[in-house]
Amino acid sequence: MTNRIPLIAGNWKMNMDHLQAIALIQKLSWTLSDADHDYSKVEVAVFPPFTDLRSAQTLIDAEKFELALGAQDISKHDSGAFTGEISGAFLSKLNTKYVLVGHSERRQYHSEDDSVIQQKVAAAWRHNLIPIICVGETLEELESEGQSAVPIRQTIAALSGHDSLGEFVIAYEPVWAIGTGKVATPEQASEVAAAIRKALSESFGEVASQTRILYGGSVKANNVAGFLLHEDVDGVLVGGASLDAEEFSGIARYQKHIVL
Ligand code: PGA
Repeated sequence: MTNRIPLIAGNWKMNMDHLQAIALIQKLSWTLSDADHDYSKVEVAVFPPFTDLRSAQTLIDAEKFELALGAQDISKHDSGAFTGEISGAFLSKLNTKYVLVGHSERRQYHSEDDSVIQQKVAAAWRHNLIPIICVGETLEELESEGQSAVPIRQTIAALSGHDSLGEFVIAYEPVWAIGTGKVATPEQASEVAAAIRKALSESFGEVASQTRILYGGSVKANNVAGFLLHEDVDGVLVGGASLDAEEFSGIARYQKHIVL
């Protein structure tokens, strides 16, 4: 057993308006506060759209819900003439703890490359946010380079060139498994997680053993077990299934059983 507290992260993507977000947080908190389960050994975080963060934060604080808050993106800048961008300063004012950086949809549809992602990681640390650095290979890359090469390269690129490292999480999400229903096998996921950890250790030393590495890509309550049983997989990043309170709680609940 490691001291890495498992993280179950729900990436809502561009779903849920203000009222739907409130309803989902309330429902989730209700299902997670089930007295038969002890969630103290697992951390559950939600990543709503920016426009929902304020209401989510108010609700979580007022009701003392055991949920951590994350944002789906961050600007590499701190303030100024960057229309449409969201500063890490604004996020930390809302008690946001985590921020997704380099999600494959940002890499693909917003042309975010390794350099932008590296700068976003730095921005997250400047504002005391924990970046969840998303890495993963496309189907083409899987066929040409194998499974671990791209995730390792992206991980090292995001973490290189900083004066020192702050806390971070890695989410291994094979692009071909996101939202497709095609899920990596638990063995594939744990092999890549182990390879990332080894690369982290070679490049950055001790931090590797304390870093949480998540798997993401079509995770559901009925397939999460296989991933979480592996020592190198410290949680999951969930897209579609995080929009359903029962389903998402089912994922968190499973984690609790194997941790205790
Ligand atoms: P999915 O998305 O669970 O819907 O495949 C995962 C993600 O993009 O983080």
